[in-house]
Amino acid sequence: MNIPVTNALHETANGSAKILDGALAAQAVIHELSEKIAKYVNSGKRKPALTVVLVGDNPASEVYVKNKILTCKEIGIESQLRRYDKNASKEEILAGLHELNRDATIDGILVQLPLPAHLPTGEILDSIAPDKDVDGLHPYNLGLLFAGVPGLQPCTPKGIIALLHFYHIPIKGKNVVVIGRSNLVGKPVAGLLLQQDATVTICHSRTENLSAICRQADILVVAAGKQEMVGKDWVKPGACVVDVGIHRLKDNSNEGQSKSKAKIVGDVLFDEVKPIAGYITPVPGGVGKMTVAMLMVNTIFAYEQHIAM
Ligand SMILES: NC(=O)c1ccc[n+]([C@@H]2O[C@H](COP(=O)([O-])OP(=O)(O)OC[C@H]3O[C@@H](n4cnc5c(N)ncnc54)[C@H](OP(=O)(O)O)[C@@H]3O)[C@@H](O)[C@H]2O)c1
Repeated sequence: MNIPVTNALHETANGSAKILDGALAAQAVIHELSEKIAKYVNSGKRKPALTVVLVGDNPASEVYVKNKILTCKEIGIESQLRRYDKNASKEEILAGLHELNRDATIDGILVQLPLPAHLPTGEILDSIAPDKDVDGLHPYNLGLLFAGVPGLQPCTPKGIIALLHFYHIPIKGKNVVVIGRSNLVGKPVAGLLLQQDATVTICHSRTENLSAICRQADILVVAAGKQEMVGKDWVKPGACVVDVGIHRLKDNSNEGQSKSKAKIVGDVLFDEVKPIAGYITPVPGGVGKMTVAMLMVNTIFAYEQHIAM
């Protein structure tokens, strides 16, 4: 991968943060993967294959699934979308997953979240075979992550680390504050940062003096799911700010606008924080792009394990 050289962590470009462009970094990953897949296929191997399971008709999920399927097409992964009605039963979905687990031609299975409220998310995710769990959310794979053993790691945390590496942001020895402790983002990103020798503080909704803790951070990862919660008073000048949040704004002035074009903001007040941060991820165009790229990386990881069997 071609990694651009950036300024040191605490330098700012013209008094304004350098943008960590997730689209650019993701494209570099995608390009590398396309070449890798082409080599396998040219040597007579089957194509990698991913199945995405979508339950219901959540508009945001429709957009995410469409992006994932399009990216698969772009790089040569066979993809299949399995749709279930929003009232589908747990038994119906589990039966479908068991069938996919047994299918030797499928490398990766991804259940798009969130699931409708009547379905037990944990039980459904845990029923995916760990070797096909390309979202990296099975307890087995989360266990490998915290044991420091290579495996399928959750896509968003893995994407955050890849984005920091792409821009040569130093992690070793740095103070990193993570806001959020979910199994999807907060805990695994903290685990990965720890593996990179960062000193990590994990904050959550019960944390006291949150803004003061955040001001200590060389790298601030915000995954609270609270729209534009982090302002300039939370950020140390020159810090690297990684905004994981995604919030689709309702725009009453533009009622005819399609939902896929709705304005999207993050957990960070971008315009306020950008002038003082050293680096900042935009929303959209930051972490989200890396998440999809890491899904592709995980699918190829699973594929390589399967074709080696
Ligand atoms: N860019 C991407 O690809 C991507 C991928 C996944 C998620 N996301 C977005 O990232 C955000 C977080 O996702 P998630 O699944 O981790 O959310 P989540 O499961 O709702 O977890 C949110 C975490 O933030 C903490 N929190 C909430 N309000 C807080 C506050 N006021 N102060 C401090 N901590 C607070 C919660 O603390 P408690 O544990 O104490 O409740 C919880 O640990 C969402 O906006 C989501 O849409 C983006």
